Amino acid sequence: MKLSVPFGEQVFDEPILGIETSCDETAASVLVNGEILSNVISSQIDLHAMTGGVVPEVASRAHVESIRPVISQAIQEAGLTIQDIAAIGVCNRPGLIGCLSVGVSAAKALSVALKTPFIGIHHLEGHLLSPFAAGSEFKFPHLALLVSGGHTELVLVRATGDYQLVGQTIDDAAGEAFDKSARLLGIQYPGGRMLSELAEGGDSERYRLPMGLIGRDTFDFSFSGLKTAVRRLLEIEGDSLDRNSAAASIQHGIVSVLVKKTVSAAEKFEVETVTLSGGVAANLSLRQTLKEACSKRGISFVPAPAALCTDNAAMIAIAASFRLAKGERSSSGFDLDCFANAPLPILEHQP
Ligand code: KG4
Ligand code: ZN
Repeated sequence: MKLSVPFGEQVFDEPILGIETSCDETAASVLVNGEILSNVISSQIDLHAMTGGVVPEVASRAHVESIRPVISQAIQEAGLTIQDIAAIGVCNRPGLIGCLSVGVSAAKALSVALKTPFIGIHHLEGHLLSPFAAGSEFKFPHLALLVSGGHTELVLVRATGDYQLVGQTIDDAAGEAFDKSARLLGIQYPGGRMLSELAEGGDSERYRLPMGLIGRDTFDFSFSGLKTAVRRLLEIEGDSLDRNSAAASIQHGIVSVLVKKTVSAAEKFEVETVTLSGGVAANLSLRQTLKEACSKRGISFVPAPAALCTDNAAMIAIAASFRLAKGERSSSGFDLDCFANAPLPILEHQP
């Protein structure tokens, strides 16, 4: 996979090692001159399915076990040796502190051993820039819909590092809405993908569920009412619940709100392109519905490649590549910290 480099931007031309450990995936990737040579992910999903969610301490320990083999595999699959790595991009925010620390410590240790610079990357900037690997040329500014387990955001992207938050969820994230509804239907963590599979044989009009803030004059989202409505639906329907149609109705509710708000924001900001990224971007109904809504309005639609929707390190390497090319580094004092919460980053050095 090769990045489309927008007009006026540059990518770092030497091998970058990307590292991502913010939640429940240990991931490493190698990117050279905008080309993704490897993208290795060790998922902890089976581990967390046992507890129905991520237990931070358990996740951190799993990262400690996987980080070395995952990094070695990423370098090997790229056909390189560790000495070839010229810079490291590591996710240092936002996320679970214990988990982030594993990746950041590995990056610092490698940086000392290899005498290479490193840079701390915001997880959401990684998601935001992953559509650049889709193979489509597109122009700034564009509107990005970023939908994951922890975030639901509409962002106006004027350039890499120049972001304006247009709207966000005021309670649950879209992925959380999928996961919590799935759990009520008895589907294991994380549930989003399984719920969408269950929805395939269902009638999305069968059950009426709330579509938070859909008619309101705001680009913010609200999904917390959905799980209450699903719980009530289960109580009312009991054994006669048509599970496929319940899943289809839940998916329809979430997708409709996301699509409606995205296209109205795209029209308001008069963008030519809408991008889609984050774990929920893997949802086929969302991809299809947003694609159709954009094409009706003459807006081009660029979703992140399927392999780069859920958490991965290629997206961290992509964001690092643009920042390193601008001369940014975090390595000088070795005091790069990890943050549980952090606002979307802007350019450190405005041109
Ligand atoms: O981006 P991601 O891997 O992690 C975060 O940064 O949160 O997103 C994970 C989220 C989970 O909530 C998961 O259920 C959801 O993405 N997800 C999906 C699908 N695949 C993953 N939701 C709906 N449909 C899918 N096919
Ligand atoms: Zn994510």
